[in-house]
Amino acid sequence: MERREFLGWITVGMVASSLPMAIAAVAENDLSSEVKGNTRADGFQTVGTVTELNQKGQILNKKSPVGKILVVRNANNTLLAVNPTCSHDGCTVKWSQGDSKYLCPCHSAEFNTQGQVLKGPPKKPLKLYQAKIEGNSVLVKAV
Ligand code: FES
Repeated sequence: MERREFLGWITVGMVASSLPMAIAAVAENDLSSEVKGNTRADGFQTVGTVTELNQKGQILNKKSPVGKILVVRNANNTLLAVNPTCSHDGCTVKWSQGDSKYLCPCHSAEFNTQGQVLKGPPKKPLKLYQAKIEGNSVLVKAV
């Protein structure tokens, strides 16, 4: 076997041996797009409808694509979105429109519109999301 022929076979072998890894990488990308579900290119995910928001005054979705989420409108009609799981002991906070605060029913913690602790035992803020409306959909994205 001449040197040129030998190198040719080495090249074919290298391409053939890397083929399964290339196929696996493509398959993994396909899987990750399935796992991401309705995540859009801009990172927003649908968590409810404007109809629900208008009817109930809030969207409390415990199984949204981003996990537990609470979306409300404040007095200025601005959308606010947080993970309503209290950072103290895991109770679900409620939005108080009159106070413009999130209130925890378990140990009386209070959080401002940015999820920061105003009062009570929690040391950490609520997880905050950016929220917007498109058509009849309410969308959120982690901040
Ligand atoms: Fe919310 Fe304790 S669980 S203040």
